This record gives sequence, C-alpha cells and structure tokens, in this order.
Amino acid sequence: MRHRLIVPSAAAALMLLAVPASAADATPGAPGAGDSYYPTSGNGGYDVSHYDLRLKYQPATDRLDGTATLTATTTQALSRFNLDFTLKVSEVLVNGRPSAFTKTGDHELEITPPAPLPEGKQITVVVRYSDIPSQVKVGGYSAWQRTPDGAVVANEPESAAWWFPSNDHPRDKATYDISVAVPDGLQTVSNGELKSQSSKLGWTRYNWRATKPQATYLTTLAIGKFDIVTDKTAGGLPVLNAYSKDLGDNYDSAKASIERTSEVIDWESTVFGPYPFNAIGGYVPNVKTGYALETQTRPYYSPSSFSGGANVSVVVHELAHQWFGDNVSVKNWRDIWVNEGFATYAQWLWSAKEGEGTTQELADYAYSSVPADNPFWKVKPGDPGPDNQFHGAVYQRGAIALQALRNKVGDAAFFKILKGWQADRKFGNGSVQDFVQHAEKVSGKPLQKLFDVWLFTDSKPSAAVAAEYGI
Ligand code: ARG
Ligand code: ZN
Repeated sequence: MRHRLIVPSAAAALMLLAVPASAADATPGAPGAGDSYYPTSGNGGYDVSHYDLRLKYQPATDRLDGTATLTATTTQALSRFNLDFTLKVSEVLVNGRPSAFTKTGDHELEITPPAPLPEGKQITVVVRYSDIPSQVKVGGYSAWQRTPDGAVVANEPESAAWWFPSNDHPRDKATYDISVAVPDGLQTVSNGELKSQSSKLGWTRYNWRATKPQATYLTTLAIGKFDIVTDKTAGGLPVLNAYSKDLGDNYDSAKASIERTSEVIDWESTVFGPYPFNAIGGYVPNVKTGYALETQTRPYYSPSSFSGGANVSVVVHELAHQWFGDNVSVKNWRDIWVNEGFATYAQWLWSAKEGEGTTQELADYAYSSVPADNPFWKVKPGDPGPDNQFHGAVYQRGAIALQALRNKVGDAAFFKILKGWQADRKFGNGSVQDFVQHAEKVSGKPLQKLFDVWLFTDSKPSAAVAAEYGI
C-alpha cells in the first residue's frame, strides 16, 4: 500500500505522460526493492495491499502448512516477479492460473505467470506451502523459533520469509488476515484483533485481523500455552496481552510491566499525537533470546526483559515504536535512526516524567560516560551499516541528537516537529534526511550541521562542538 501526494497540476501532467506499458513491453520485476543494506529485501514491479494467510501448525513436528493469498497491483508490465520466501512451495496461482515458480538465491521465489501481466492491474497470487520452518536456515539462521509448547516468529529486519511469501520491505505496507489452526488447548497471538475462533477435529482455528497498513517485519505469530488478558483503554481501544504460562519467576514482573500498556499509550498520545492503530497489547512467549520488538499493535517481549522486576521502560520503548517505526517506517534500512533514536528518547521522556533523571541529564551522561576512544563513537547513527543497525550508538547517540535538536529549537517547536512527522507521514515512510528537512521547515532553523555532528560523524564530538550543537 502506498500513499502519494501529488499536486493537481502535476497530477494532470503525469496523466499525459503515464501511458501504462502494455503486456508486450513486460519485463521481469526487480528481485530487490533497492535497499543498499539488504539488496534482496523486497521486490520491484508490484505493490501488495492485502495478505490473507491460512495456516496450520503442529508444534510436535514443527510442520507449518499454509496458503497465502496476496492482493497486489502491478506497477509495471511484468513478464515475471519475485516474492521473498524461504519455505518449500507446492503450487502458485496468479489470477487463478497455475504459474511456474522457482527458488533463486537464499530467499527469492521467482514466479512466471502463463501470460505477462499489464501495468496498473490488480493481481491475486495464491501460494501453497509446507515446511519445517525452524530447519530452513539462511546463513545458519532461522527466524522461526520453536518453544517448549509451540513457536514464535518476530525479528527485524527479516522474519516474514520464514512463514509467508511477501514483498519483504517496509516501503510496501499492507493489511492482514491471519488464520491459524493449532491443536486444541493451544493459543495463538498475532497482530490486530482476534475476530473469532472455532474448534473441530481436534484443531482450534484463530482468526486475526490487522486493518491498518503494516510492514512485513512487524507482522508476528506465536503459538503456545498463553494466558490472555483483554481490556479496553480509556479511549475505547481494545487491549489484548498474552503471557506464556511458562514464564516462571518472570511471570509477575512481565505482567506488572505490560499491564501498564494503556497508561503508556495514553501518555505517548499526548507527546506524539493520536495513536495510529485500532488495537494494542503485548505478548511474552517462553523464549531464551533476549530482544524485544515493536510488532504492530502487539509488541513482542522476551522474558529476560523482566528478570530484574518490572521493566516499564522497555514497554515505553516498544510502544513508542508504534509511532516511530510502525506508523512512520524507514524508507531504507539505513534510516534505522528514525526508529531507534526516537524510541530511546521516549524512554528518556518517561524517565523525566517519573523523576528518574531528566532528558538533559541522560543526554549528558550518554555523552560523557563513553570515552572518545570507545568504538561506540565510530558508529554513525545516521548510516550505521547493516552490521550495526542495532548498535547502542544508534539508540543512545541517536537520542542525544534529539536532545540537541530540542535544545536548539525549543520545546514548542520540538514537540511540533514530532507530532508533524507522525501526521504528515501517516502509514508511510521517512528517511533521516526527510526528518532533517522536516525539522528545518517546522523550526525555521538550519539544522544540517547539528545532525551531521550527532548522526554522521565517526568520532566523538569535542565538548566545544557538543556545546555549540545542542547539549
Ligand atoms: N527494534 C527492536 C528494538 O529496539 C530491535 C530488535 C533487534 N534485535 C534483533 N534480534 N533483531 O526494540
Ligand atoms: Zn527499538
């Protein structure tokens, strides 16, 4: 799903120029979306608007059977096109017609319909598949994690390819229906709302629906024994939280953190603007891995986040991503600062509100506690490289950049910048440079140098430079 703003006169000019390519001019869709960090992520030639996933999962054998139906629109005349997928495929239909398919590279499914597809047409692609996802490894890695009672899939930047075929890049957002059958007695967790569930022949089918544009990596699924807690926020938003029954000592601290979701959402709405989606919650599967992820409307938390007691800060971080990351997503993966810098700054704002240190104190500490010879300062938050996307510098130095901006433009302009970024790019994407331009426009101040100092310099800014440029 893409949203474009075209001024009327430009639109008229485009209509004269844009003669749709006929099927005779059809060429293959690109095998990547043009992302410099992940050249094979996403694909060219079409735009997906909806994924309908009908799945069945047996935890005992880790067998996943699926039928994915994608509704898409071609953006060029296509002789063939790619989806990103790692699992074994048995059949592909394009507009109801059996189509040739082959696996190329690590996770490309190349599809050749019997006849070329014209530009600007809606297409329906059905992919049937069956595999043991945890055993499908790319570079030794599978995003599908088995748990003692089920499985979970949640990872950034890549996870979709281990459970559904997609255009796996945050620039192509879509809505989702996710229907999963699991053995009776098990629950499932996914995005959006649980619309219905029913049981037959020993299997329970859960039907999840996410009706707001959602990036592929923010789409999640868990299967296992969960306690499900539902509620409504003061504003009427449905809340669904899910806790694995096997969290042991971390169960109570997880609950004490995640049950504060509506309070945090209400507070963040006052800082960032209206909550963009129509459901919220969080879930904790019984995994050993240690990260959290801002899966849309339903963040994923590791039990280890709660091993020191309640950790509301991680909840604040993942919920801030519902705005910065999910509503407004990166244009390219190099733009990761537009996610992580802001989610970290939200934690600093929360700290200030809770009387646990002001944002200025935290920025000063982040700056002064890391010596100049620490490799931390080698990482440029504005272009950290694929290996350092989630380096502490993107988070901490990334948040310093925002404190510097706030000091330079003042509180009124700063919070207007944050809210405007959300409103202007609703359900869309933005790059680091887009943010710099947006901040300059709203504040009326030249800010490129400030952002160069904090985001694009591979050494520690001197105390004098730090003072001149914001902190
Ligand atoms: N966006 C996540 C967060 O900061 C980062 C997850 C990175 N970890 C991973 N294993 N991919 O909340
Ligand atoms: Zn984050």
